[in-house]
Amino acid sequence: MKGKIIRVAGPLVIAKGLTNVKMYEMVRVGNLELFGEIIGLDKDTAAIQVYEETQGIGPGEPVYPLGEPLSVELGPGIIGQIYDGIQRPLTQLAIKTGDFLSRGLSLPALDREKKWDFEARVKKGEYVEGGDILGVVPETSALEHRILLPPNLKGKILDIKSGSFTVEETIGILEDEKGNRVELKLMHKWPVRYQRPVKEKRPPVIPLITGQRVLDTFFPLVKGGTACVPGPFGSGKTIIQHQLAKWADTEVVVYIGCGERGNEMTEVLIEFPELKDPRTGKPLMERTVLIANTSNMPVAAREASVFTGITIAEYFRDMGYHVSLMADSTSRWAEAMREISGRLGEMPGEEGYPAYLASRIASFYERAGLVYCLGRDKRIGSISIIGAVSPPGGDLSDPVVQATLRVTKVFWGLDARLAFARHFPAVDWLISYSLYVEPVSEYWRENISEDLYELRQISMAILQREAELQDIVRLVGMEALSPHDRLILEVARSIREDFLHQNALHEVDTYTSPKKQYLMLRNIINFYRKASKALDSGVDLEAILKLPEREKISQMKYIPEKDIHKLEELIYLIDRKLEELREGIKQYA
Ligand SMILES: Nc1ncnc2c1ncn2[C@@H]1O[C@H](COP(=O)(O)OP(=O)(O)OP(=O)(O)O)[C@@H](O)[C@H]1O
Ligand SMILES: [Mg+2]
Repeated sequence: MKGKIIRVAGPLVIAKGLTNVKMYEMVRVGNLELFGEIIGLDKDTAAIQVYEETQGIGPGEPVYPLGEPLSVELGPGIIGQIYDGIQRPLTQLAIKTGDFLSRGLSLPALDREKKWDFEARVKKGEYVEGGDILGVVPETSALEHRILLPPNLKGKILDIKSGSFTVEETIGILEDEKGNRVELKLMHKWPVRYQRPVKEKRPPVIPLITGQRVLDTFFPLVKGGTACVPGPFGSGKTIIQHQLAKWADTEVVVYIGCGERGNEMTEVLIEFPELKDPRTGKPLMERTVLIANTSNMPVAAREASVFTGITIAEYFRDMGYHVSLMADSTSRWAEAMREISGRLGEMPGEEGYPAYLASRIASFYERAGLVYCLGRDKRIGSISIIGAVSPPGGDLSDPVVQATLRVTKVFWGLDARLAFARHFPAVDWLISYSLYVEPVSEYWRENISEDLYELRQISMAILQREAELQDIVRLVGMEALSPHDRLILEVARSIREDFLHQNALHEVDTYTSPKKQYLMLRNIINFYRKASKALDSGVDLEAILKLPEREKISQMKYIPEKDIHKLEELIYLIDRKLEELREGIKQYA
């Protein structure tokens, strides 16, 4: 039954006369037929959050129920797309209307005309279950799109054929358990607020390699893990998210620009299509999906963009891929929740955010993980989520930060002072943490080196000690420090400037392989160890600090990956130089 608008309050519309509708059902609102979702229901009165600007619609206008919850279309054609929060293809919309923001327009998320080459991988008569790979479509040169039997189906393949199909054409027939004939297609739909099922969740233990030294070596993330990146204005949240989208070693990237400034998103839209995947040399967009819901777009669609994004990520995970999802910024989503909740007259919780803020945020991060995918064969897939949070003034006691930290296992805390001093990435090494260091160090031992974990621990200890020593220096001056403590300050500076500091805009420095990260850190700590030994033998600290070879340590980051053997040579060179200083002392003695 069609309903009638009785009140419009910003993104919230109240309508009467809607019988037989359900919570979270989609509707079209007003004469403009704007997209909305029912978020409150009391008899025949519905509260609707509208995903488009409500200007110009008013009481008396109709509301049409669509009979289904907010769902996404899953199938070939998603990769490389730029969608809005409710999966409308923005480029196609712009071509059609000359404007991104025309209201009430619907265009299908997946191209209806385009034909895809489908190669069947199951046979007539075969029994299949949800998640089984029916066949494959080479969607881009970088990605094989695996066509899965939708999770809720099971039965016998009556017919299946390879060939060229649109997403709506029938590729085969399934006889389900009740004996019904079900047409199989390249696409299916899935409601965004429901997690797609998996066979089994596994503890995530494989590192997610980002090429960012402070992240990979100091506060590592794993495939299937979750990270929270809070930081004040201008501290580098967006750049970190971009770096991850470019460099993280996942097969698919979903990037959600949520409520951020349009120009930040423009950078993504202009820059990403030009980028090349460092591993395949193919355009990055051939494994990327962008969801753009900028600050000038309606607030209600922010939540939709987050759930649309995670559902698309789950779909690729189900194929057996490692997927990374970046959301920038989840604070803008939380603000949208606050606005809608306020307009609904709900009891406000902390800072005016709704009481369900924490559980809603958790329901998003809980969809991350490393899993055995549904289906008869054993496939592993994962979703890693990295959420940026922008608390006012960078205040970490902010409810959104706190709710996020409760569910995420990695905390990359960005610091305003570091950013001001142009130390990027401005990850504060004293407060950040990763709860994945244990499993990752296992991996390091087997794949990189026995002693990387130890080098990391020593470096962290030196940085801690630096903070204490700085307090002492402030009180009593540098003269009060022993040569050994002054060496520690020098080495700490080297860890910060030569290792942690990393320029995203420098062509070599922007990405460092795990092996190179290891060799860099080994050089710094080797210098520390050998210099300590020299001090113990009576060598003057000044003589050690004057060694011209130290300059080479500060240049390590600019050594291209193909030349990293030079870093091994540097270890021996420094050894020799410090040994010479010790020999010199012996000669005088
Ligand atoms: N890794 C980096 N390498 C070089 N420069 C960086 C790096 N990270 C940040 N910057 C510099 O800091 C500026 C601000 O970064 P960014 O836009 O990512 O901050 P933000 O935290 O997203 O800010 P906002 O709160 O405004 O969204 C960048 O334009 C860039 O100049
Ligand atoms: Mg930003």
